[in-house]
Amino acid sequence: MSSTEPSRKKALTPHLTDEVRHSLIEAAQTVRQHAYAPYSDYLVGAALLTNGGAIYTGCNVENAAFSPTICAERVALVKAISEGEREFEAIAVVTDNGAFPCGLCRQMMYEFSPLMTVIVVDAEGIMVNESTLAELLPKGFTPDQVHKHGTA
Ligand code: THU
Repeated sequence: MSSTEPSRKKALTPHLTDEVRHSLIEAAQTVRQHAYAPYSDYLVGAALLTNGGAIYTGCNVENAAFSPTICAERVALVKAISEGEREFEAIAVVTDNGAFPCGLCRQMMYEFSPLMTVIVVDAEGIMVNESTLAELLPKGFTPDQVHKHGTA
C-alpha cells in the first residue's frame, strides 16, 4: 500500500475541539428528532462540520416506495454541498444503537473529504467510535479514478 493512501494519513481537524465535538453531537441529537422514519422507526441524526467551522445537519427521510429513502448523512452532505461547501472536518451520527454510516454514505462523503473524522454516537449520547472516514472505507473510489483514469 502506498504511504499516500488516505487510510494511512491522519485527520486534519483544526476546528474539532472538545467544545465543537460536543456541539456537533448535540446538533445531531436535535435534528434526529426531525427524522421521518415511519417504516423503519429507526431515527438517525447527522451533523457535518465544514473546514470553515460551519455545521450542517440532516435526518433520514423515508418514503412509501422505500428506495427513495435518503440517509441522514447524505441529507446533511447535500445541504452543505448545495450551499457551496466542499471540504469537511467531521461528521457526528446519532442512532438508537450507535450504528456506523452505511456504505453509500461513506462513499458519498469520501468524494469530498476522505480524512474527515466520523463520530458515532448512540441514543444515550455515548460515543461508540471515532475514526477517519478512510479507515471506514479503505481504498475508496476517488474522483481521480474517473478524471485521470488512474490506477487503483
Ligand atoms: N439510515 C441512515 O440515515 N444512515 C445510515 O447510515 C444507515 C441507515 C437510515 C435509512 C433508513 O431510513 C433507516 O436508517 C433504516 O435503514
